[in-house]
Amino acid sequence: MVVSSATIDSLLKEKEQYPPPESFRRQAVVRDPKILTDAEKDPEKFWADQAKELRWSKPWDKVLEWDPPFAKWFVGGTINVSENCLDRHVTSARRNKAAIVWEGESGERRVFTYHHLWREVNKFANVLRSLGVKRGDRVTIYMPMIPELPIAMLACARIGAPHSVIFGGFSSKAVQDRVADAESHVIVTADAGYRRGAPVLLKKAVDEAVEGLPVVRHVVVYKRAGIEVTMKEGRDVWWHEAMAKADDWCPPEPMGAADPLFILYTSGTTGKPKGVVHSTAGYLVGVAATTKLIFDLKEDDFYWCTADIGWVTGHSYIVYGPLATGATSFMFEGVPDYPKPNRWWQLVEEYGVTILYTAPTAIRACMRWGEDWPKMHDLSSLRLLGTVGEPINPEAWRWYYRTIGGSRCPIVDTWWQTETGMVLITPLPGIATLKPGSATRPFPGVAAEVVDEKGHTVGAGRGGYLVISRPWPAMLMTLYKDPERYKATYWSQVPGKYFTGDGARLDEDSYFWLMGRIDDVINISGHRVGTMEVESALVSHPKVAEAAVVGKPHALKGQALVAYVVLRTGEERSEPLKDELKKHVRAEIGPIAAPDEIYITEKLPKTRSGKIMRRVIRALVSGQEIGDTTTLEDPGAVEEVKKWLEAVEGKAP
Ligand code: PRX
Repeated sequence: MVVSSATIDSLLKEKEQYPPPESFRRQAVVRDPKILTDAEKDPEKFWADQAKELRWSKPWDKVLEWDPPFAKWFVGGTINVSENCLDRHVTSARRNKAAIVWEGESGERRVFTYHHLWREVNKFANVLRSLGVKRGDRVTIYMPMIPELPIAMLACARIGAPHSVIFGGFSSKAVQDRVADAESHVIVTADAGYRRGAPVLLKKAVDEAVEGLPVVRHVVVYKRAGIEVTMKEGRDVWWHEAMAKADDWCPPEPMGAADPLFILYTSGTTGKPKGVVHSTAGYLVGVAATTKLIFDLKEDDFYWCTADIGWVTGHSYIVYGPLATGATSFMFEGVPDYPKPNRWWQLVEEYGVTILYTAPTAIRACMRWGEDWPKMHDLSSLRLLGTVGEPINPEAWRWYYRTIGGSRCPIVDTWWQTETGMVLITPLPGIATLKPGSATRPFPGVAAEVVDEKGHTVGAGRGGYLVISRPWPAMLMTLYKDPERYKATYWSQVPGKYFTGDGARLDEDSYFWLMGRIDDVINISGHRVGTMEVESALVSHPKVAEAAVVGKPHALKGQALVAYVVLRTGEERSEPLKDELKKHVRAEIGPIAAPDEIYITEKLPKTRSGKIMRRVIRALVSGQEIGDTTTLEDPGAVEEVKKWLEAVEGKAP
């Protein structure tokens, strides 16, 4: 990451405020803002108190050992994550409570009580042992969104084998790179998954990936779709056959607090994916505390995080956080608009979902389909909404608030990263006054700052770089097999502080306004403008559904803005509309932010996690080198964006 600029001007102003509704505040887990001041006075005490709610095989001697940039939390303690997510509840009144409720794409339903889940996990832990997996061995999991995915993860945690989950939408090349890096002897997969009714051939991708990878000794295959696959004698094992023979008790391995729980690969700005390593105890304490306090979890909640478990959001807020808290976590295999754009709202109504946690990109898609779809359903069970993944533009925030939340549910806009493991900046819904578009303030015990390129704090209203100024329990421990890259990426820009790579601004109430990745911030005539803010301004126009804005070199201004705009259903493209949009951005942000070129398009190219592929668009539009495309998670992406650009720009702008 290159830190090159001075200050970042943030131009978007939002004045609206939403205090917590009295009815919500009265019943909230956190009602007293004192939690923030107390945790600030003694963060280690705050985290130790959170840690005491878990079951430890041996208590810790020291809360934190900070040898920058390496932190160890709960030093001397031993603990098992699967024991905390399962055994602790199985020996309580939660024994027969639903732990995971699952719905498949075509409507099949399965419910796992804590007891049932515990049994399955014990059995699969024994299957892994029987295949020679030992404490410390890395197991790769490449599965669809089915309950066997969290079962496999928890089984790994039970025997102390760090898992590396690979999103089921990745190509065999991505699997190969990650398996080779993690040196996994065992891969857990399925014959296939489903996406929009079509099978996604996972086992076939694994077969291609492990070709020439002698490190892989066994592949366990769950029969999800019942399609024919090749099973290699001696290497491949059917899940159901192995489970039928497995004993249903496997003692949980007491793990050192700083032993790794998992590796999760995430793409960097350049080069090969980074293997983000998360710890056992610190991670669990961090995700359990944030789940309970941010999502305000109660015994009778029906909680739904719509992420895929292949991403960190699914790890922390479908599996580990909710299960450590004894919650009912809903898993859905499908997409929001299959077979129709009312699918999600139908699920909310049928299951009585009370808490919904999703991404701005999904909210904007729903906005585009129109409010008739959610209006078909009774959404009155919802009491809290959340977002994660990118800044939410105030327009989408308001739509989510009114149309989905019925103007009654607080929205927790949660800022965090794969690397941070847990949410770091967020409202606590019972005490925070919300401002649409702001993630508000750091979680108790977390210290965040906005600094300039020299590391000095910048004042309210001025943009800069977001850094985290003290360690937090769920922080990444290192990058797998690459501590030097860990130091260089996160700790070299501002000494002693974690560099997030995001731009941000603080307002006069010390609220954080996230401005997206720094490499999405561009310089126009000496002014730094967050492309996200221009996108947000465009989307606030009533005819616009979605926008992607990138910078392009410009002889006079340094950089100029190019905007790609998707209109709402039923709106017609026209030249006057483009002028109107430019005028709108000038009025919303200022003349410098008005795009030089606007293209109207049917759709925007996105990554599999739903993020607009700005980096690829930007590189192509500016004629830059994209670098080695084989290292991109989806090598086909560049070709796809190229074709898309040609089609869009080929039409008269
Ligand atoms: O730029 C920030 C954005 O997503 C990045 C982290 O992406 P990833 O590691 O894939 O994890 C996504 C899920 C945690 C951040 O650097 N981001 C995430 N949440 C927000 C956000 N930007 C603004 N507001 C958020 N609430």
